[in-house]
Amino acid sequence: MDKKALNGLFRPKSVAVIGASNTPGKIGFSVVDNLIRDGYKGKIFPINPTSPEILGLKAYPSVSDVPEAIDAAIVTVPAKIVPAMAEECGKKGVKGLIVITSGFSESGRKDLEDEVVATGKKYGMRILGPNIVGTLSNSDKFNGSFAPCLPLAGKASLISQSGALLIALDAATYTRKVGFDKLISIGNMSDVDFADVIEWLDDDEDTSCISLYIEGLKNGRRFIEVAQKSKKPIIVLKSGVSAHGAAAAASHTGSLAGAAKVYGAAFRQAGVIQAADLNDLFNRTQAFSEQPAMKGDNLLILTNGGGVGVLATDSAERYGLPLKFAPEDVQTELKKHMPEFGSAKNPVDLTGMAGNEWYYDSVKYAFGHKWTDGLVVLYCETAVTNPMEIAQSIQKAIVDANIKNKPVTVSFVGGERSDAAMSWLVEHGIPAYGAPDLAVDAIAALHEYTVLHAKKHTFDFTSDAKARKASLEIIASARKDGRDSLTEIEAKKVFKAYGLSVTDTQLAKSEDEAVALAKKVGFPIVMKIVSPDILHKSDAGGVKVNIKDEAGVHAAFITIMANAKAYKASANIHGIAIQEMAPMGTEVIMGSVNDATFGPTMMFGLGGIFVEVLKDVTFRVAPIAEDQAVEMIGEIRGAPILAGARGEAPRDRKALAETICKYSTMILDLQDEISETDANPVLVYEDGKGLKVVDARMILKKK
Ligand code: ACO
Repeated sequence: MDKKALNGLFRPKSVAVIGASNTPGKIGFSVVDNLIRDGYKGKIFPINPTSPEILGLKAYPSVSDVPEAIDAAIVTVPAKIVPAMAEECGKKGVKGLIVITSGFSESGRKDLEDEVVATGKKYGMRILGPNIVGTLSNSDKFNGSFAPCLPLAGKASLISQSGALLIALDAATYTRKVGFDKLISIGNMSDVDFADVIEWLDDDEDTSCISLYIEGLKNGRRFIEVAQKSKKPIIVLKSGVSAHGAAAAASHTGSLAGAAKVYGAAFRQAGVIQAADLNDLFNRTQAFSEQPAMKGDNLLILTNGGGVGVLATDSAERYGLPLKFAPEDVQTELKKHMPEFGSAKNPVDLTGMAGNEWYYDSVKYAFGHKWTDGLVVLYCETAVTNPMEIAQSIQKAIVDANIKNKPVTVSFVGGERSDAAMSWLVEHGIPAYGAPDLAVDAIAALHEYTVLHAKKHTFDFTSDAKARKASLEIIASARKDGRDSLTEIEAKKVFKAYGLSVTDTQLAKSEDEAVALAKKVGFPIVMKIVSPDILHKSDAGGVKVNIKDEAGVHAAFITIMANAKAYKASANIHGIAIQEMAPMGTEVIMGSVNDATFGPTMMFGLGGIFVEVLKDVTFRVAPIAEDQAVEMIGEIRGAPILAGARGEAPRDRKALAETICKYSTMILDLQDEISETDANPVLVYEDGKGLKVVDARMILKKK
């Protein structure tokens, strides 16, 4: 995409307002009023069929009557005439449409939206919206919206899918003291989407970090690629993470792969920092817009109060940045700026006696010391100190330390005087928060950014052409039978084609065949019903394990068949699978969903009760490289069990990582055919002894 094409939308030199009105209360009035009042320096051309003048500006009956070039046209006429307006704008050579109007795909009129987009494509004109508030830019004094005002000036820029939320945040920037340069309402994303705007903002010299409010992405993979390449930190608040997608899932993985899990994985792979709620979005944006990332994990906390110091220490551990004792030389120097009963270890407690000078000296020294990767300064309001003076001492110390590549955050706990001091700090580029845990959370996010960006995700992968061909044949034959799932035996054949270690499993159609196969496989064996109509075999009484002899095979055959018929009389029964009884190992689960937004996405976790009850699983958008597979294995809560807890031998995590990678190749290769898969359980043995997929499930895409 030509990034410059969006200049017309976000930094227009001239704008037309189609539907400009002299009637206060109309959106067409507000937009013109906002442009004038907030000091837009470009040319404004109000367009109205009957009024010759709008808010003191010469108005034109249509864009074709405007004698000059128009960069952006802000559209505020009813939906049904927007396609005609788009056509006129295209002919006129307008670079971009900012379509505020509602009444398109969000309310069943996708046809109208498609018409506007097609016209845009025809003329090379980009479309922002429809169904948006507009776009605002402090550096251009451009308020091309019906939001109440330009936001508090700052270095962050926000892209919001919700117009209402953008309006709410706009006014709140003043009370929350978080400054923004641009607020961009993105609405239905008919043409310009998140990835486009992120790419554009990445080159915008007035933006230092990018905040997002996302309800749902259209092209998840492109988002990941663009976000990863962004030179600027991205913070995201994603809404709609509850109870999504679970209802219709046919596999275990499908039922666990809610939006929160898949989006969460995608955001981590994209190197994007997540915010839990609106407060978090503001707090983290404040930190990222003013401070650099924290490059190492040596966090130093300075305080005048033991209590807040301990609270901050607890938070540091909670947010994954546990404190370490400061080195000797740091402690020796800091001891000079505190009374005998102070502590220089970390947290550094200057005590309630700390005044401006002690704060100045210790902050300057600690921030400047090479050991320190990030600094949190805490202050509790006392009667013997002046919060504003303490704030000024801290800020001067930071400036005098002359260090540009490490972050600092501050928390003052007190009353109005502390609040005023924090506002002053924020105005001077130092993020300040009303509670110690928020200051620590902000610096932990700056550290998380470094951690996330240390790993590069790539979408490159090599198809396994031979395995793919064999698998497609198996899938085609299942489809020919009118099925939309594979039997366990078929699914295992696909797994095996992709190099996964599966238990030897064969189909017996009669009791005699079962006995013959059992002898071939070798006792003990497992017997399982094979029917495309019975996915949950155990629930149907369709599984018997540890069968030790011929008599057992006969008995199990009769029982399983009877159970299956009782469970579902109409079930199409292919026969009974005779399967080697794999030795016990640690149970894990692997699986996949073909996510509507991100495509093939893989899950891994401990099996059995861990997946049923604790849902101890982790996700990644495929492909998964080996280092990412290792990361997945290490990040579940049950990781110590695989590492060999309580004297147990470590499990074969190398084989596990390799299997995850092969599985990821399989789900990418077959993405046009499969929707959900499970390998559950997979039994993992001691180091060097590999693993075995004991059960397999593969649900096909409906065609
Ligand atoms: N060219 C230029 N102007 C025209 C044309 C034309 N061809 N035809 C009509 N107009 C004028 C009208 O005469 C009117 O001006 P007037 O007041 O001088 O008569 C003006 O355009 C507006 O037209 P109206 O028919 O009066 O439409 P109205 O202002 O009531 O509504 C609007 C238009 C605001 C676009 C409405 O259809 C709409 O979509 N509202 C929702 C907007 C919105 O909420 N967007 C999403 C934001 S996200 C959130 O939830 C906050």
